[in-house]
Amino acid sequence: MDKFIIEGGMPLCGSVAVQSAKNAVLPLLAASILTDERVIIHKCPRIMDVLNMIQILGELGCKTSFEGETLVIDSADAANHEIPSALAKELRSSVFMLGSVISRFGKARIAYPGGCDIGLRPVDLHLKGLRSLNVHIAEEGGYINCECGALTGADILLDCPSVGATENIILAAVKGNGVTLIRNAAKEPEICDLQNFLNKMGARISGGGTATIRVEGVKKLHGVEYTPMPDRIEAGTFLIAAAMCGGEIALSNASADNIAALIHKLREISCKITVKNDKIYIRSGRTRRSLRMIETMPYPGFPTDLQAPATALACISEGSTVIVENLFETRFKHVPELIRMGADITVRGRAAFVRGVRALHGADVVAGDLRGGAALTLAAISAEGQSSVTDLSHIDRGYSDFEYKLSSLGAKIRRIRV
Ligand code: EPZ
Repeated sequence: MDKFIIEGGMPLCGSVAVQSAKNAVLPLLAASILTDERVIIHKCPRIMDVLNMIQILGELGCKTSFEGETLVIDSADAANHEIPSALAKELRSSVFMLGSVISRFGKARIAYPGGCDIGLRPVDLHLKGLRSLNVHIAEEGGYINCECGALTGADILLDCPSVGATENIILAAVKGNGVTLIRNAAKEPEICDLQNFLNKMGARISGGGTATIRVEGVKKLHGVEYTPMPDRIEAGTFLIAAAMCGGEIALSNASADNIAALIHKLREISCKITVKNDKIYIRSGRTRRSLRMIETMPYPGFPTDLQAPATALACISEGSTVIVENLFETRFKHVPELIRMGADITVRGRAAFVRGVRALHGADVVAGDLRGGAALTLAAISAEGQSSVTDLSHIDRGYSDFEYKLSSLGAKIRRIRV
């Protein structure tokens, strides 16, 4: 198991190129099986979730090659409709392979992806949407078995704007017969990226980014070369790092529009942020006004994936902050570890009450999930003294070269194997 050794207290200065979005690349990889022609993904991040998804594609019979940041997928010989359970459990988001595998083979089988480190993660909306498209689904023995004669268009209303369910329904409907409407659809930018990708392949999808998405089924999709959108959560993580440590950093390959809710908050606490094309500049002192209230919401509200880093920032901001996590049930695993670093936080259900302290102190902490691990790393690089962050497998799922990027900005961080 790897861990970070961190000497905190250094200001951050310099520039970082933001990776392509993990949560955009994963659905694009699922979509790649919808054509038997070559798919090329440029600037593909080398993160564990992507490597696991590539392994799943391999199990389905796809040929892949990953040279540098260019991923080539050839699904001509794909023939297996069963998503391997070990990998499905490893990568919860593989559940949105269902839509594309059913579209390709007329059937799909996946182990029921249980809950995970941040909550129950139900898939009822995925299954309800697929059933609306004429998919017959039997859930037995911990497996979800799907069969479908012909995918037919439907008018679907989601009980909540689920990102994964929206993506799964798009992937199932894109080559179905007729028109599908998805109402109360997720509006996340990653949905727009999936729509752009599929339309480049010959799909007819509109409404991405709005609450109603229209998918007109087409007979065939052709190959495509594509560069995914920038990772708005990685960009937000680095902006929060600068706000916590003080200093001045520039992010390239970043889209400020996609993290407007965070940028608004950081400006409120006296960070100076300017935007020029695909670059975001942030300058921050070592003192920060109170964040007052952070409430996670579906896009364009404050993103749940930045709640943990924002909680770490609140720990060293003036006054009190209330953090409400509306999307996932147990997304406060980082709180006990922050308290070990001297944070003053009380959690009641989905709310965390944070009273700012002057500074955190170093401690040995353990990452419990992807974004919580990032939050603990930011806390450690801003703290006084030495810290270690253990179980980096979570961070490695979603952040490429995390310690290299932070150390290039001046943080004293190194990875050791224990
Ligand atoms: C996606 O997860 C992201 N993952 C998550 O990022 C992100 O936190 C989440 O969207 C919300 O933005 C990927 O894109 C791979 P949801 P997803 O379905 O699709 C409920 C990260 O750190 N729900 O939008 O699983 C669910 O319980 C990860 O990068 C149902 O009730 O999230 C939650 O309360 C973590 N039934 C809410 O919807 C369902 O069938 C939002 O979940 C599906 C979801």
